[in-house]
Amino acid sequence: MTKPFKVESPFATLTIGNDLRLSSEGFNAVEGVRTFGDLRAVLRDRPEPRLPRDTVLYRMYRLFTRPSEARLFKARDLRHDITIMAPLCLGSEPNKTLGHYHPLTPEGLSYPEVYNILHGRARYLLQKEEAGEITDFISVEAREGDALIIPPNYGHVTVNVGEEPLVMANLVSDRFMSAYEGYVRMGGAAYYLLKDGELVANGRYGTVPKPRHALPNFKVSKDLYSDFLSCPGCFAYLNHPLRLGGLGKL
Ligand SMILES: [Fe+2]
Repeated sequence: MTKPFKVESPFATLTIGNDLRLSSEGFNAVEGVRTFGDLRAVLRDRPEPRLPRDTVLYRMYRLFTRPSEARLFKARDLRHDITIMAPLCLGSEPNKTLGHYHPLTPEGLSYPEVYNILHGRARYLLQKEEAGEITDFISVEAREGDALIIPPNYGHVTVNVGEEPLVMANLVSDRFMSAYEGYVRMGGAAYYLLKDGELVANGRYGTVPKPRHALPNFKVSKDLYSDFLSCPGCFAYLNHPLRLGGLGKL
């Protein structure tokens, strides 16, 4: 259980209740949840940490929009989501997402995604896979107000490195399903981030490049929701990654 709190963002007041449930007057969403049982395959610790399987690690609110504005996102094949992650530890690791890759667009690059931290602190762990090899691994520290474009062809894991629930928004194409198998098969990302901040290699990957650190590579004007409504065409690169140009470099 977490203490209820509010996040004031230009586009909405978000109320986070007990058990990380989100509500915001006038907004609809499709709720999903990940529990400790869902993440067992991607944890570093063996034997696994002792936590009840139904412990809520994070909640996802997909298509988080006002009903009257939903069609504007739909018209661009984009989705606005909110994720809330508990400030928990999974043994030696802070709470994290399962990890996934995005499929390729017809342009031959995978779909990018943009994140904006609304509350808390995160570390994004990005890895590029080419022909079965990890050819790049990037760690990005981000805090409230920061924004990050996940560049094409990078899988990603988000870690809640703060003492409080992490609340983040994302804007992403609605044309694909995320692919989790790569992370599940390999027991997580190529490196595990530990509670003390150390990155430890995941032995199942064999040789991987040393992690490099990068700064958040994007700026929001207000927040993703408001910025999209002000300029829907400005996010066309989420379905057409060649239009990113220099954006999204890390
Ligand atoms: Fe993603």
